[in-house]
Amino acid sequence: MSFSRRQVLAGLAGVGVLGLGGTAVRYWLGRPHDLATHDYQLIAAPLDVELVAGQPSTLWAYGGQAPGVELRCRQGERLRVRFINQLSEPTTIHWHGIRLPIDMDGVPYISQLPVRPGEYFDYDFVCPDAGSFWYHPHTASSEQLGRGLVGPLIVEERQPTGFRHERTLCLKTWAVDEQGAFMPLLVPREAARAGTRGRLATVNGQPRPVVDLPAGEVVRLRLLNVDSNITYTLNLPAAEARIYALDGNPLAPRAMPAKGLRLGPGMRVDLALRVPASGELALRDGPLRLATLRAVGAPAEASDWPAPLPVNPIAEPDLQRAELLRFNFEWAASLADPADPVYWQINGKAWQSPAPGCAAQPIARLRLGGHYLFELRNLSQYLHPIHLHGMTFKVVWSDRQVIEPWYTDTYLLGKNETARIALVADNPGLWMFHCHVVDHMETGLMAAIEVA
Ligand code: C2O
Ligand code: CU
Ligand code: CU
Repeated sequence: MSFSRRQVLAGLAGVGVLGLGGTAVRYWLGRPHDLATHDYQLIAAPLDVELVAGQPSTLWAYGGQAPGVELRCRQGERLRVRFINQLSEPTTIHWHGIRLPIDMDGVPYISQLPVRPGEYFDYDFVCPDAGSFWYHPHTASSEQLGRGLVGPLIVEERQPTGFRHERTLCLKTWAVDEQGAFMPLLVPREAARAGTRGRLATVNGQPRPVVDLPAGEVVRLRLLNVDSNITYTLNLPAAEARIYALDGNPLAPRAMPAKGLRLGPGMRVDLALRVPASGELALRDGPLRLATLRAVGAPAEASDWPAPLPVNPIAEPDLQRAELLRFNFEWAASLADPADPVYWQINGKAWQSPAPGCAAQPIARLRLGGHYLFELRNLSQYLHPIHLHGMTFKVVWSDRQVIEPWYTDTYLLGKNETARIALVADNPGLWMFHCHVVDHMETGLMAAIEVA
């Protein structure tokens, strides 16, 4: 396979040092409508931020913030991002949940060459589905995501929805100490278990922020778990809230589960929240407060719940003729190389990242246009949010819960659970299939599936 479009930065050298309000900033983001080549220019660069008051941490930022700047586009339209790497190491951008051509999928040596320091790459693809998505690198993930390279990508519905207000809240818990210094991002002992947990919980990069919302209105809250390893158990005590979409795909609106909604790494939920006429609500992870939601302004008159969101154009898998493929996710330690330990495998194989020039060996080959049923078996006691690139699948069965089928790009496989997902293999390419607990994917729980 040959790769294209990675280019050395020329004539853009001045871009990184714009003075803004007297401070030297190392980034720039704009939406230059007059430019024929791209809609956004997005720079990845180090950025000093006080996550802990008075103690700067050196994060890695997209567009001068971490989590990164929110990118938006309209369903069915093209998103063109000129990505500029001003980090000191190679990276790429993967567009999580977007059904796009393989050469835009952002996996080094599988869909493109890594973008080296000082280079840029033009991402250019149509966004076929509306919803809450996100973007992140797909190399050195514990370091790169752990330091802040994660950001929201919102694809707006073609027509206005019943929501007049919305807010994006990115959840991330940083592995920094009381002085703001980074702690180890992947602790081997933890990678062999649930994954290394950060210490400082934040929403949009702020610990326990107060988020102002219009009193009495129904607000669409887009909650994105952009954390590397943590599964949040989200709850909003005493709130009137309904789930409208999961992982970018609408479902029939439903109440929040009484025990809270478990959102694994990489997963998103769109809630309709009826903001009270006055006062505050807590957004919590289990018993821990993540943010305070505060009603502000004169209360609006009570309105109805918005209509369900329009469904996305995803091919319906035919379970009668679907071919069954089985995938076992299990613990299997190999410490052959202590610098690069392996703790996890899929069907007896641990992922070896493809070296330059080597193509990955797919774990399964699907016929283009074929219908498939995947049986996912978790042979461990840890949670695995199982994610597939390039195609959206339908969750159809589980041995642990009654499934009302829904479409998604990630299924949170519970401990020792077996579940079935179905899909039409309608996007040709070599697609990554992995657990989105970054510590797990970095220590083996990743594979590639070929559609041809
Ligand atoms: Cu969020 Cu391989 O993806
Ligand atoms: Cu993805
Ligand atoms: Cu996992």
